[in-house]
Amino acid sequence: MYTWDELETMLHQCSRCALSQSRNLPVMGRGSHKASIMLVAEAPGAQEDQQGLPFVGPAGRVLDILLASANLTRQDVYITNIIKCHPPGNRDPKPEEQNACMPFLRCETALLRPPVIVCLGRIAAQKLIDPHFKIMRQHGTWVERKGYWMTAVYHPSFILRDPSRLEETKKDFQSVIRKLQEIEDSKYPL
Ligand code: URA
Repeated sequence: MYTWDELETMLHQCSRCALSQSRNLPVMGRGSHKASIMLVAEAPGAQEDQQGLPFVGPAGRVLDILLASANLTRQDVYITNIIKCHPPGNRDPKPEEQNACMPFLRCETALLRPPVIVCLGRIAAQKLIDPHFKIMRQHGTWVERKGYWMTAVYHPSFILRDPSRLEETKKDFQSVIRKLQEIEDSKYPL
């Protein structure tokens, strides 16, 4: 098992897929290494590529609103992506890029061991929950996998394009807090 620092060093040296040639900086997850909630989005955007940090662009502002609606800040969660390098033109990550990057996400998950994983958007939900996941129909639903409770919500960039989705996504975020409370309560029989 690697440490967080070792993982980040390996990420900066990574050349497992062609995106390592076009990226400016890889984007390691950020947030609390003790968080109970891991948020997984799809891929860094252009601003993230410049700064080497997740969700520093416009979608990040929407994410902060969603977190605040559940009384959370970035310091309460751990935020990462399926792939750690920016795909040129913001295209969807290719399956081979996702597969090449999975060891990093597996290590992050093994280090954090979060009770709850929230997929931000379809790409992450289809990679982590179900390849046929329908984000419109299934957002806010829960499944338990290998001891992790998992759900998916709309991607903050989608909410930027369609702000009418904000309120239902706030509700999905609030269900994350309820799920954590349920998990906590289930540890105590009385
Ligand atoms: N969109 C993502 O999917 N990830 C980021 O880190 C930023 C924007």
